[in-house]
Amino acid sequence: MNQMLRTHTCGELRMEDVNKCVAICGWVNKYRDLGGLHFMDLRDKYGMTQLSFGEYLKDNQKLEELKKVSLESVVRVEGIVHPRPMDAKNKNMPTGEVEVSVTKLELLSRSDIDSIPFLPFGAIEATDDLKLKYRYLELRTNKLQDILKLRSQACFMAREVLMNENFVEVETPILYKSTPEGARDYIVPSRVNKNKVYALPQSPQTLKQLLMIGGTDRYFQICRCFRDEDLRADRQPEFSQIDIEASFITQDFIRELATKIIKRIFKLEADFKLPMMDFKTAMDLYGSDKPDIRFGLKHMIVTDLFKSTEFGVFKDALSGGLIKAMFVPEKLGVFSRKMIDSFVEVVKPYGGKGVAWFKLEKNQRTGGISKYITEEIYQKLDSLSEDKGDGIWLFFADKKEEVAHASADALRRHLGKELKLHSKGYAFLWVYDFPLFEYSETENRLVARHHPFTMPKKENLNDFLSDDMERQKKCLADAYDLVCNGYEIAGGSMRIFNTDVQSQMFKILKFTEEETRNQFGFFIDALKYGTPPHGGMAFGLDRLIMLLCNTDNIRDVIAFPKTTSASDLMAGSPSAPSVAQLDELNMRWK
Ligand code: AMO
Repeated sequence: MNQMLRTHTCGELRMEDVNKCVAICGWVNKYRDLGGLHFMDLRDKYGMTQLSFGEYLKDNQKLEELKKVSLESVVRVEGIVHPRPMDAKNKNMPTGEVEVSVTKLELLSRSDIDSIPFLPFGAIEATDDLKLKYRYLELRTNKLQDILKLRSQACFMAREVLMNENFVEVETPILYKSTPEGARDYIVPSRVNKNKVYALPQSPQTLKQLLMIGGTDRYFQICRCFRDEDLRADRQPEFSQIDIEASFITQDFIRELATKIIKRIFKLEADFKLPMMDFKTAMDLYGSDKPDIRFGLKHMIVTDLFKSTEFGVFKDALSGGLIKAMFVPEKLGVFSRKMIDSFVEVVKPYGGKGVAWFKLEKNQRTGGISKYITEEIYQKLDSLSEDKGDGIWLFFADKKEEVAHASADALRRHLGKELKLHSKGYAFLWVYDFPLFEYSETENRLVARHHPFTMPKKENLNDFLSDDMERQKKCLADAYDLVCNGYEIAGGSMRIFNTDVQSQMFKILKFTEEETRNQFGFFIDALKYGTPPHGGMAFGLDRLIMLLCNTDNIRDVIAFPKTTSASDLMAGSPSAPSVAQLDELNMRWK
């Protein structure tokens, strides 16, 4: 029985195959007519093979057949493998020493070359929109095929690690109920239950906790999550997670497990140890909870050094704000006045109003705010800095701590890129001891920093249970993130497993009793009937793959991605429902 239309792929033939009769299939990548000598490059995902038509064209009528074959058409050929003449061998091509002398050509599917929007292997780069609209053409490129393969292998490795640790893969519903992760829900109207909707899960958070209550002990799932939020280069409205939960464990267990997974996927050294940093240290040193630690330029907290400064901007920041400094030694970069002036544009999007500076040149303080830098202040600055000597000192001051942090972080990242300070490879970091809440000024209430099922740290439980917002604001969470090269690639926490603590959480978040009952009644009930202590985490699979294949655009790692306005340009989704659909759903278009 013949299972295959081909005997070989387009990447397979070598000198050892010379004189074999072969059949290969693929897309026509190139066609050359060298004064009567006709050649074609046939391509599939495995490679490219040169076809020659000397033998085939002995029958004069065949030239017409050959001319019908347009670029990107799919053909099947039979022929004999010949060595190429010495001067025609191509060392850069794995099949470059041979060619197939065609005896039979079948045009399986003709490509309409007059209307094809772009050639996937053409010299002219198509626009992003065109590539997305005709994604299947872009999928023909090696880049995207390699990424699909890498993604599939990474999932396999994660599954292997987890199954070896006795985790069980369980599927959870997509048509479900709101699971808050801080974004808006996508909702799906129900036809059978008139005027009711399902929500697509922002993550399987409550479901995986219910699996723990159900005694599953160790769960994982490579699942899809749906979040209606503003999109960025590392965000999609639907994305994938490697979602994990386990019972009777501590944060250390999850960290060890995460280490095993990244060691396997990123092929790290056997003795790899995951560096750790608490949230506060990360903010102090890098102004970010997902610092890129491949390079230095650490921040210094210098508010106290300027207690009696006359410099207005710093003076303003002294009342409850923050002043941070960053030193860039001359050996890393020297900046013109114009470059220094442009730093303000880097911090502006983060609320920063400017970047104060002075230079140390041949041991002299010059420029910017140098007149406010006394010898005493300078000595203290110098003692704080890891790097010494000539260079530029940069300052970020604001009445709001978060603005000073974010501005200093933005400029640090900017300079990291501009000065090419990133070392090669992966710099992982386990960030822990996150604050439990964030304060929302507009709503004058606390919101969950991770999600409302996160356990407060044991030491903060009394503050959490008190009804004092100031005490609650300071609570830390048993929550953690895994960061790599400045990306948050995973996040998780130990969970609340006690009804009273969970109810207090909803109360602090200012959910009314009715809201809590409607949205989470089933979950609060479940907590009542015997809940094991449990916790877990979720890897952002797409971000993990972005790192693996060194791209900073999430669209590269998804076969059929959406644009930043959440649409699929290829299928044209979302699209308007028909009147009949609306009628069935008992809905009207507003
Ligand atoms: P969290 O919301 O932190 O946690 O998500 C986990 C990881 O998912 C990735 N991620 C995204 N990737 C692409 N596009 C998005 N829109 C997007 N949003 C998040 C990130 C992130 O680290 N249920 C909890 C996990 C837990 O507590 O166990 C959760 O979903 O890499």
